[in-house]
Amino acid sequence: MGFPHVRPRRTRQSEPWRRLVRETQLSPDALIYPLFVVPGTGVRRAVDSMPGIFQLSVEEAARHAREVAASGVPAVIVFAAPAHKDADASAARDPHGLAAQAITAIKTACPTLLVWADVCLCGATDHGHCGHVSEAGVIDNDRSIATLAEVALNYAHAGADAVAPSDMMDGRVAAIRARLDAAGLDQTPIVSYAVKYASAFYGPFREAAESAPAFGDRRSYQLDPANAREALREVALDIEEGADLVMVKPAGPYLDVITRVRAAVQVPVVAYQVSGEYSLIKAAAARGWIDERAAVLETLTGIRRAGADLILSYFAPQVAQWLRT
Ligand code: PBG
Repeated sequence: MGFPHVRPRRTRQSEPWRRLVRETQLSPDALIYPLFVVPGTGVRRAVDSMPGIFQLSVEEAARHAREVAASGVPAVIVFAAPAHKDADASAARDPHGLAAQAITAIKTACPTLLVWADVCLCGATDHGHCGHVSEAGVIDNDRSIATLAEVALNYAHAGADAVAPSDMMDGRVAAIRARLDAAGLDQTPIVSYAVKYASAFYGPFREAAESAPAFGDRRSYQLDPANAREALREVALDIEEGADLVMVKPAGPYLDVITRVRAAVQVPVVAYQVSGEYSLIKAAAARGWIDERAAVLETLTGIRRAGADLILSYFAPQVAQWLRT
C-alpha cells in the first residue's frame, strides 16, 4: 500500500520529529584537530591557503591546544615543519627535534588532551618525499621504514598518545610496532593512514607543513583515486601488521571507500577531511556563495553517515562550539 496511506513527510514535519528519527549523530567526541608546528618562539603565522589555520611555534601550539581541549575536542594531531631539511630526515630523527618538543609541551600543558603524532619524512627531507630517495631517484621503501620506526619511537618517547604513519610505505606498521614494543612502548597505539590517495586536495596542507615534493609526485606510494579494492587490501595488511585504527584520506571524495572499509574491518575507522576540502568551503563562504556552518555540518555528517567513527578536521574546534550552542 503506497500513497496516500504512506507519507514519509509525516516524520519530517517538525524539528522535534526530525531530531527523534535522525540516524547519524555528530559529536565533538569524534573529532581530531591538526596542529602545524614551526621553529621559533612567539610565532603565529597565518596559512594563506587555509583561512583560520596558523603555523605555531611550540609554546603557541601548547597554548592553542588548551583552547582546543576547552572546546571539547578530545585529540589533536601534530605536524612539524622543521627548518633543517636534508636527505636523511635528520630533524625528524632527532629525539629532541621540533615535533618531539611540541608533543611534550602540549602533553604538559593539557595532560588529558590526546596527542597523536603524524609520522612521515616529507617535512624533514630536502626533496620533500615521504621516504628516502635512492641515488637512482626512486623511493627506497625498506630504508624508509627503518627511519620511520625511529621517528615514531622518538614521538612515543616524547609522550605521544598515538603515532600515525602517513607515508604509505609498505611494511611500516610492522616496523613501527616492532620498534615500539622492543622499547617497552607496547601500549602506544598506531593509527595507520592505511588508505591515502594521491590527491589534489592536499595542496593547501603542503603550504602549511612546508612539505611539497621538490620533484615528481607521490603516485608511486599513495593510492590511485580510481581504486577501491586496493584500499581494502591496504587496510587488511595494516591491521595484520598491528594497526589499531585505520584511516581513509581524503574523506569527501572517498565516501564509498569509507563505507567499504567500515564493513570490512573491526577496528575504528578514521576519515581525514583534508586541507583542500577545508579551503574549498572557506573560499566559497568568504565570497558569500555558501553557508559555512551548514556546509561544514553537512560534510561531517556525510562522512559519519558513510561509516567513519572519527574525523580529522580543521573545523573541529569550531564544530565543537557550534554543537554546544
Ligand atoms: C604527508 C601528509 C599529507 C597530509 C597529511 N600528511 C600531504 C601529502 O601527502 O602530501 C595531507 C593533509 C591535508 O591535506 O590536510 N605525509
